[in-house]
Order: sequence, then C-alpha cells, then structure tokens
Amino acid sequence: MNFEKLLKAAQEIKEKAYAPYSHFHVGAALLTPSGKMYSGCNVENTSYGLTICAERNAIFQMVNDGQQEISEILVIGNTDQFLPPCGACRQVIAEFAAKDTIIYMCNRHGQFKKTSVAEIIPFSFSLDK
Ligand code: THU
Repeated sequence: MNFEKLLKAAQEIKEKAYAPYSHFHVGAALLTPSGKMYSGCNVENTSYGLTICAERNAIFQMVNDGQQEISEILVIGNTDQFLPPCGACRQVIAEFAAKDTIIYMCNRHGQFKKTSVAEIIPFSFSLDK
C-alpha cells in the first residue's frame, strides 16, 4: 500500500533531520504518478530564515531527478497532532500537484489524517488566466 511505503520512507528520513535550533524533526515522502518516491527532512540554519522544510526538500529532490508531478505526499513529525504542511510548503506542493492530490498528515504514532491540495490550499496563487 502506498501509505505504508510513504510512511516508512518519511519516518526513516525524519531521523536525519538537522534541527539543532527547534529540535523539531520532520520527514516527508512523496510518490509521482510513475511510482518514483522521494523523501526529505528539514534542514535548519543558524540564520533561522534559511531553514528548509522537509516537504520542500523532498519536492526539490523530485525536480532534481527530472520529475514534476506529485500524486501523494506524506508529512510526519514527533507530534501527537497530525502534522500539517506550513503555508509556504502548501504553495510549493500546489505547484506540482492537482487539486485532488492526496496529502497524509501524520502523528508520531503513524496515524494519519488524509486530505487534499484543494482542502489545505484553497484559492492558491497561480498565473493561470
Ligand atoms: N517544518 C517542516 O519541516 N515542515 C513544515 O511543514 C513545518 C515546519 C520544520 C521547519 C523547522 O526546521 C521546524 O520544522 C520548526 O518549525
């Protein structure tokens, strides 16, 4: 099942997070329609604003590899809450996703809330006329 595959990859990469400032470790994993999987963790910086979130890290890996479409994306932190992507990541997810692209927001127990791009970023900015 895709969910299990994504969860395992995101949990694994979460352990690699570089988060010495927030101590908030995040992992993300995504699948493309062709079945390729990419994952990313958050990478912080002493100049805090240079931090990159796990979701964008995974998406940039995908683009670096020549892929430009997300079919499903999962995000997980060490939280009891289902971890939602931040606003910046929602906009970047929307760039490479359809309205019905699946987003799994997970808690540290691996439980999830399943949502969609349309639901988490309605009225997203686009240059489409
Ligand atoms: N973070 C993510 O990796 N993804 C999100 O969607 C929310 C926030 C990271 C950034 C920072 O390293 C830490 O979580 C605390 O904000």
